[in-house]
Amino acid sequence: MPSPQKKKTEPKKDFQTPRGMRDILPRMQYIWEKVRKTAKDIGGYYNFSRIETPIVEYAELFERGVGKGTDIVEKEMFTVHSKSKDRLVMRPEGTAACVRAYNEHGMSHLSQPVKLYYEGPMFRHERPQAGRWRQHYQVGYELLGGESDPIYDAQIILVAVRFFEELKINDLEVRLNSIGCKTCRPPYIKELLQFYRSKKKELCVDCKNRLTANPLRLLDCKQEACIALRVSAPIFVDHLCKDCNDHFKAVLEYLEELHLPYVLDHYLVRGLDYYSHTVFELVTQEGKLSLAGGGRYNYLIELLGGKKTPAVGVAIGLDRTIDLILERKLKVIPRQRPKVFLICVGELAKKRSLTLIEHLRTGRIDVQESLGKISLNAQLKSADKHGAPIALLFGQKEAFEESVIVRDMKTGAQETVPIAKMADIIRKKL
Ligand code: HAM
Repeated sequence: MPSPQKKKTEPKKDFQTPRGMRDILPRMQYIWEKVRKTAKDIGGYYNFSRIETPIVEYAELFERGVGKGTDIVEKEMFTVHSKSKDRLVMRPEGTAACVRAYNEHGMSHLSQPVKLYYEGPMFRHERPQAGRWRQHYQVGYELLGGESDPIYDAQIILVAVRFFEELKINDLEVRLNSIGCKTCRPPYIKELLQFYRSKKKELCVDCKNRLTANPLRLLDCKQEACIALRVSAPIFVDHLCKDCNDHFKAVLEYLEELHLPYVLDHYLVRGLDYYSHTVFELVTQEGKLSLAGGGRYNYLIELLGGKKTPAVGVAIGLDRTIDLILERKLKVIPRQRPKVFLICVGELAKKRSLTLIEHLRTGRIDVQESLGKISLNAQLKSADKHGAPIALLFGQKEAFEESVIVRDMKTGAQETVPIAKMADIIRKKL
């Protein structure tokens, strides 16, 4: 047996967040709250009802919904190892889950379209880099059912644009394309393949695979050689069937009616297989970073076991939105209500201090305290540090007389007021 002295001590482990993930610290919460509230208000205004779905879903939902040949499903899913034999994954996106819920809860029997909004973390095992997290947050707006009416495509785009405008981001480019339907897509793909097969040698390795796995994605390859090639590739808008062409034209007309500028992007195809007809992204003009993306998915509800039902939606990346707000130093946060600082001295005052705070709460006065600190000086220092405009001094005498001293921290002027009148008097001073 090894002697206790010789036993190796465990190396100290400094725990960190998993790679590509991060903490959102208290000092950043104000901005996350603002962005989430904006998402909720926009959703509320346009009649989207909140839905919450599990973080974990059956892998097959995304394999079938998002598509087996997509990067998200093939390379980026976080698998959950549980005691059950179920193949579970952490959701990489929110649309498939909304559709599952729509089917599972018989929402096709509700008045159509059903408008859902969600907000929460998504998980993709991507190579971490600026604006790309393995846990990122999305807000999504999905409009399921009703007709495949282009007015809904326009409304979904409008909702995303308005969301950003509320946050003072007014200059995102709306990039738009149509990727047709089951009728016009096969002949277009055939022509696309004909073009690319003749250039196979010049394609990158990934694009060589795309020739069989996912031909549409040949168009949005980021490799320079492939970008140069696609200039002479056939584009989808020239190959849309009449219905798809009419649909796309009508979407553009609605956007024009709304005076929403857009850019046609013939190479926009999106990285998820469920799209048909309109696809779009909202990107920064500088770096062309996508802050939101979406489109129509008229086949997904049926593909996941429901009735043939059209749908359209968008998801907004909150991490990237917040990065942009911070980068541009946008003033989107309303001034917080100033807090008064409560200073308690002595045992009786400390004993009654929690009740005093309740008086302030019912009087809608925000209060900061340092209940654990004893010395008056230490508490005055804390009040200063917090930049409180008013301090409330609560000592033995005041506790006994049910009063409190209200002190103006700037001028040093102070007055004793009864607790019953305290909230009204403070409100006038703030
Ligand atoms: P998506 O384009 O994959 O679409 O993601 C939507 C947004 O989430 C992106 O525009 C981006 O801002 C953000 N995002 C995606 N991946 C990351 C990441 N790794 N790190 C940080 N942000 C990221 C969808 O997910 C579809 N479900 C959108 C949709 C809704 N289509 C129809 N309805």
